[in-house]
Amino acid sequence: MSSREQKTFFIETFGCQMNFHDSEKVAGSLVSQGYRQVDSVEDADLIFYNTCSIRDKAEQKVFHRLAEFKRLQKLGKKFAVIGCVAQQEGERIFERAPHVSLVAGSASYRNLPEMLVQIERGERATGLDDRNTEETFETEFTARTNPHRGYITIIEGCDKFCAYCVVPYTRGRERSRTSESVLEEARRILDGGLTEIQLLGQNVNSYRDPLGKRSFAELLAEVGQLPGIRRVRFTTSHPRHFTREIVDAIDSVPTLCDHVHLPVQSGSSRVLSAMAREYTREQYLERIAWVRAAKHKSISLTTDIIVGFPGETCEEFEETMSLLEEVQYDGVFSFKYSPRPNTPALAMENAIPEEEKIRRLAILNDRQREIQRVNYTRHIGQLLEVMVEGFQPARDQVTGRTSQNKTLNFTVPEGMTAPKIAEYRQVRVVRAHPNSLVGEMAAAPEAQPAYSVV
Ligand code: 5AD
Ligand code: SF4
Repeated sequence: MSSREQKTFFIETFGCQMNFHDSEKVAGSLVSQGYRQVDSVEDADLIFYNTCSIRDKAEQKVFHRLAEFKRLQKLGKKFAVIGCVAQQEGERIFERAPHVSLVAGSASYRNLPEMLVQIERGERATGLDDRNTEETFETEFTARTNPHRGYITIIEGCDKFCAYCVVPYTRGRERSRTSESVLEEARRILDGGLTEIQLLGQNVNSYRDPLGKRSFAELLAEVGQLPGIRRVRFTTSHPRHFTREIVDAIDSVPTLCDHVHLPVQSGSSRVLSAMAREYTREQYLERIAWVRAAKHKSISLTTDIIVGFPGETCEEFEETMSLLEEVQYDGVFSFKYSPRPNTPALAMENAIPEEEKIRRLAILNDRQREIQRVNYTRHIGQLLEVMVEGFQPARDQVTGRTSQNKTLNFTVPEGMTAPKIAEYRQVRVVRAHPNSLVGEMAAAPEAQPAYSVV
């Protein structure tokens, strides 16, 4: 460590919202241990690298980056590799990058204070053996870096073991926090001035209150009724455990955002079975029908899709395309199947050639773009409430987000004051693109409900 009085750290994060929020909690733990967070590698004594291994050649990227860091070792800096690649590669990281001092997976973060003591003594620390734990990572202090949204992890890990996915191996078994502690954290976030909360979990629908007090839908509804709350989001849902009760909660509690992200992965029941997703196309569509049947809100739907899973025939891919037609999603995160270590799909036969995966992905994305163009155009002329998330001075635009989670960039008419980050404004939509809306801020502040009405 440097001779400066306060030790400093820098943290770089890749991957999903869970990972970003883990970094906020890791930073909180470090701050409570006397460290100070800095904005650059140069200023830091300790460099944290929070990794993701969900797709692609994540491991190679990590080793490449660690090789770049090596020159900084001479300056007395220390390195910590955490997250999914850390868990997956384990002690191999020390072998390939001997300048690393700490390797830890997310199930071990609650032991960070002890691990920090070890590395300060000049020893190596590992946190790799805690994936069967019942415990969750709760810190007294979370360094909230998002200026407009407070994240709360409600469930860690995943027990679903989808055939293609590394998460159950890297994040360990499912464990839920008590609903009391979630509500307490929500109150603290609201007391701190934020008005939007997002509940997080790899599979939030598997949430089970250890004290049996509230179901996921009840917890969602209760967070939505806390004093000061304006918007509640949650991610990610698994269709298998997605219930009507969740739709009823969204429909009846005004602050619950009118958006559901429900990853389908494939439109073919045969492929879904090979993926071990535990639902058929028909069961998935039944859940979509529940969402569409909401009485008070028009709930926006988005999904994740994998193309080119081993053995996926052209006809099966066509079933995914027909599902797109049927559901008319507002957004699709589409991925080429990527073989991952430890997963059952790795040993499956009939791998789809890379060119074919690229071809299918392009067909899917082209069609989805057109669907979104039409969906987004429907908003033209509407007055929507947005929360301000940033500014684009070059375009003279404010960036906001609707309750349906759509980006709405808008201008502020002359004579009106520009809003600040995290404030809400009414915006009239004037143009639509496939992925965003463009509008103009309206004069009447906050006269409309927080959600779009059917
Ligand atoms: N290959 C491609 N996509 C994957 N995903 C998860 N694992 C893989 C994989 N091995 C996608 C799924 C999941 C999203 C977070 O990432 O669509 O829902
Ligand atoms: Fe991975 Fe499936 Fe768990 Fe999602 S539900 S994290 S895709 S194993």
